Amino acid sequence: MTEYETHDYDVVIIGAGGAGLRAAIESRAMGLRTALVCKSLLGKAHTVMAEGGVAAALGNVYAEDNWEVHFRDTMRGGKMLNNWRMAQLHAQESPDRVRELEQWGALFDRTADGLILQRDFGGHRYARLAHVGDRTGLEIIRTLQQKAVADGIDVFMECKVLRLLHDPDGAVSGVVGYWRPTGAFVVFQAKSVVLATGGVGKSWMYTSNSWESTGDGHAMALWAGADLIDMECIQFHPTGMVWPLSVRGLLVTEGVRGDGGVLRNSEGQRFMFDYIPPMFATETADSEDEADKWYDDHTAGRRPPELLPRDEVARSINAEVKAGRGSQHGGVFLDIASRRTPEDIRRRLPSMYHQFKELAGVDITAEAMEVGPTCHYIMGGVRVDADSAATTVAGLFAAGEVAGGMHGSNRLGGNSLSDLIVFGRRAGIGAGQFAAGRAGAVTVDRGQVEAAIDAALAPFEREAGENPYDIQSDLQETMQSLVGIIRTGSELEEALGRIEELEDRATNLAVGGDPRYNPGWNLATDLPSMLTVSRCTTLGALERKESRGGQTRNDYPQPDPELVKVNFVERIAHPDAAAPGTGGTPSVRSISVTPEPVPVMPEELQALFEEVH
Ligand code: FUM
Repeated sequence: MTEYETHDYDVVIIGAGGAGLRAAIESRAMGLRTALVCKSLLGKAHTVMAEGGVAAALGNVYAEDNWEVHFRDTMRGGKMLNNWRMAQLHAQESPDRVRELEQWGALFDRTADGLILQRDFGGHRYARLAHVGDRTGLEIIRTLQQKAVADGIDVFMECKVLRLLHDPDGAVSGVVGYWRPTGAFVVFQAKSVVLATGGVGKSWMYTSNSWESTGDGHAMALWAGADLIDMECIQFHPTGMVWPLSVRGLLVTEGVRGDGGVLRNSEGQRFMFDYIPPMFATETADSEDEADKWYDDHTAGRRPPELLPRDEVARSINAEVKAGRGSQHGGVFLDIASRRTPEDIRRRLPSMYHQFKELAGVDITAEAMEVGPTCHYIMGGVRVDADSAATTVAGLFAAGEVAGGMHGSNRLGGNSLSDLIVFGRRAGIGAGQFAAGRAGAVTVDRGQVEAAIDAALAPFEREAGENPYDIQSDLQETMQSLVGIIRTGSELEEALGRIEELEDRATNLAVGGDPRYNPGWNLATDLPSMLTVSRCTTLGALERKESRGGQTRNDYPQPDPELVKVNFVERIAHPDAAAPGTGGTPSVRSISVTPEPVPVMPEELQALFEEVH
């Protein structure tokens, strides 16, 4: 029997990005014993990769902006698959959450009048993104981190959480994990748990996500019996670096296009004019002259096509490259140099300037950048109640990227930072109220803890077996080539077959050394989550026989008006029944996919879509 240490809290929050930090601040403010547990170091989270800004209808640059326009933009960007209540709360509450960040010390860029400056981003009718140059996510993390530490929240860093634990009645009672530096195991007993674990991007070859984004929260929620929705909806950000190969996928902020950057193919053509979809035709400029007027007066002109929602732009770049009009390294050109002065570029986009100079030897004040789509975000996730962030498992809450519903089938840029602070706060309140109302002590079942520990240590027991890096690399290749931007039924079937083979191989993982400072073992413990979420995305993509947002099917190229009415819900038949052949995780082969109705929008909100803007 392996020893482990135990900690006891009211609320335990897994993940210390924007959502986790914001949830912790709220539950601590309720006087609850709150722990924040993160896999990496405090301050390092995918939140920093939302560079260009946080979307909130502050109306500082265009007084015409308001929550209703933001709500409408968000729903249209998500191709109407969004949970309307989440989109409504998000649009209504994000201005207050941004002003609150300012009170807590965030230093946003300013208008001439000293208000928070807002910039343009794709799919947003007005300049709406409060920003700090192109380091907005970093500033938000820095601000929340300072507040959390000052408020006395206990932070546990470099802790990989393996599994959720539950009481005999099924309510969550804590988590089990291990310290990455030492490999020693730890249990956090808790009355409620908030998942704020971010996304899944590490299962694709080219991604803006860092090593942490292995879908741990999605997988643990599913294994514990929670519902996942619309896992097929994956966002490929249109602009990641394509060269050099060592940094392929690294984000190039949408702020470049928001500030006037244009996309050109290898023939020098500004190709986005050829890809304006009917849904956005009336509001998108169809000539360069008209497009450029937008930047002078948003209330008079029509938007440039480079500022279409991300799914449209990513597909267009993909099509140009496939048609043989791509750049030398398989991307297209993003040009800000001919649109802004070098001083402007260095002031407004300092990270982009530095990133291209240092990593690619490109001076973006003088030359175009080579860019192409990169896996950035999952819109699908754990099904939650919009108001409380409660999942379908008692005591379990979810906020941020790990939660589904808010963004429908495609997220607008800048809406994730606002999502984190709006729903992070709501999850903190929801989990706090649940914990405060939970009578008596929770129980930690030793059998559940030992099962998780035994499964984690199994790779040390084998003298020979599969190398975790081989499985990771084969999974990334599979997801990139078969479950990418454009999908087709036969390729998805092939992907599912390959994932099953990888699941089988993963039951025979072997790692050398011992649990201390062992990256191979750390990856071995991430693989069950990566394989589970990859299976979920593939299953959802097979079932959703239409093209909508972050799900494009070559064999079903149109949106299906019936399918906008359903979420594809995935759940496991036997939560927590460790099954042979699945590396100690519950049998993912029993996952079902069911279409279930999306909540119907009330009439007063539907009316917003009939108004002419
Ligand atoms: O392009 C960006 O700066 C990313 C923003 C986001 O994903 O919200």
